[in-house]
Amino acid sequence: MATASVKNTGLRGVSVADTKISLIDGEKGILIYRGYRIEELAENSTYEETAYLLLHDALPNEKQVEEFPAQLVEARRLPGYVLESLKTWPKEAYPMDVIQATVPLLAMADPDLLDDSREANHRKAVRLIARMAALVAAWHRIRQGLEPLAPDNTLSHAGNFLWQLNGVKPDPETAKDFDTALVLHADHTFNPSTFACREVVSTRAHLYAGVTAGVGALSGSLHGGANAQVMKMLLEVEKEKDIPGWVKKQLEGGQKIMGMGHAVYKTTDPRAKYLKAMCTRLAKKSGQDQWCRLSSEIEQSALAEFEKRGKTTIKANVDFSSAPVYHMMGIPGDLMTPVFAVSRIAGWSAHIIEEKFGDAQEKPALYRPASDYVGNYCGRTGCTYEPIQQRP
Ligand SMILES: CC(C)(COP(=O)(O)OP(=O)(O)OC[C@H]1O[C@@H](n2cnc3c(N)ncnc32)[C@H](O)[C@@H]1OP(=O)(O)O)[C@@H](O)C(=O)NCCC(=O)NCCS
Repeated sequence: MATASVKNTGLRGVSVADTKISLIDGEKGILIYRGYRIEELAENSTYEETAYLLLHDALPNEKQVEEFPAQLVEARRLPGYVLESLKTWPKEAYPMDVIQATVPLLAMADPDLLDDSREANHRKAVRLIARMAALVAAWHRIRQGLEPLAPDNTLSHAGNFLWQLNGVKPDPETAKDFDTALVLHADHTFNPSTFACREVVSTRAHLYAGVTAGVGALSGSLHGGANAQVMKMLLEVEKEKDIPGWVKKQLEGGQKIMGMGHAVYKTTDPRAKYLKAMCTRLAKKSGQDQWCRLSSEIEQSALAEFEKRGKTTIKANVDFSSAPVYHMMGIPGDLMTPVFAVSRIAGWSAHIIEEKFGDAQEKPALYRPASDYVGNYCGRTGCTYEPIQQRP
């Protein structure tokens, strides 16, 4: 059967389903969650409210705005066997592997696991949103030989994460900035990790199985792993005197400048300006003004080099500025991608529910692309099975 080919497109610009969750206009630099511009949410909302919006297609009313965060607080504690298990794992384990291995462990404790109703999926989503944050913080403590900290139920989702991670109560401004960073990362249409989640649950696998796949996709350096690579780059060039020269050399050597370019945005990422403003605020507060200065110098030099090469659509993406922001908040480089998961779990969950319940108008029952076979063929009859002695 002849197949329509979209090979070498990486599915860019190929629509595979309808969605009511989010929209990116890559030419105009617009990002919308459930009808609301990201600017509107970054300036007025909280992570809890944004997660509710993504899951329920409406902002919470006065009652729901109290109930939803209370449900998250209720679900914050990790099951004892998960904590005991984490304590036996190699301390140097890559944190994204720890998350990817632990999400199925959390599935085992979910009383709704085998109930695939919409209501049960919402309950699972709430548990996993709360526990993703608890897990990342607990692993960071455990790998340092410390006991995980009990949650502080007076703190917001963002504030409590920083407390459980660092063992220091964040000042309200830092907690608010982190909350905004979580809002900014909460969803982003059919990006690779979200598509991985949707693909997996289209087989009718459960929410945790979908999220496990999403975590794996997020870990790669071309996707969520880019923020960790940006921080690595900043630390590497901290002592570099000639930033324009360094950037030129990187590009001439065929290297990418991490944190720049995007598969959909061909202009400035609308999330970047909030992170840049945070960077400046945090730099003043912490006295670490080198990171924003350095990233700005790299950005300007890279833009100039891209311009010379006729690649004027490559701009700084969200990871470029989130890395120095997280660094100044005391988040180590290898936890920056896990922090992305702490936020994106809201979007993944909303997409999983949309996929399962067909909320959008058009989508396939199951994703199952074709491929063109270009391997051995041996003619019409196929290859002859060779006894072991006759194989080269
Ligand atoms: C994200 C990314 C994969 C999007 O890629 P894309 O739009 O599909 O574009 P391509 O990777 O095909 O790149 C198109 C061209 O621009 C170049 N380019 C894109 N981003 C670049 C970067 N950050 N540094 C250097 N060159 C870059 C590519 O090398 C390619 O050049 P070529 O046509 O000469 O081969 C890409 O920009 C990238 O690798 N960025 C760095 C990683 C990153 O920050 N990821 C986080 C994304 S939120």
